Amino acid sequence: TYVVTENCIKCKYTDCVEVCPVDCFHEGPNFLAIDPDECIDCTLCEPECPAEAIYSEDDLPSEMAHFLELNAELAQKWPVITEMKDAPADAEQWDGAPGKLEYLER
Ligand code: SF4
Ligand code: F3S
Repeated sequence: TYVVTENCIKCKYTDCVEVCPVDCFHEGPNFLAIDPDECIDCTLCEPECPAEAIYSEDDLPSEMAHFLELNAELAQKWPVITEMKDAPADAEQWDGAPGKLEYLER
């Protein structure tokens, strides 16, 4: 599966959702999650993310390992998103900011 990681939080550019052939992105207030049971590892979303927040499970850096379970959990409770929408007005300021996990809204 592919995994959305910390740098998506408060950036949420949503370019990723347009290319997913199986609609497995789920939208929360300030983060997106991939449903690992639906993702077919097509690889298309990874290069689309301006925040470089998407990784293959196989390439997931160890410090981001907890995002695998977090995607699975949040994808269960959030609705599917298939169309791109405007990013938050301050998305650019948050791109690359450290410690964003504490701002994740469920
Ligand atoms: Fe969707 Fe493909 Fe990305 Fe999986 S790898 S989330 S199937 S676009
Ligand atoms: Fe998030 Fe990147 Fe998609 S910032 S919403 S994973 S394009």
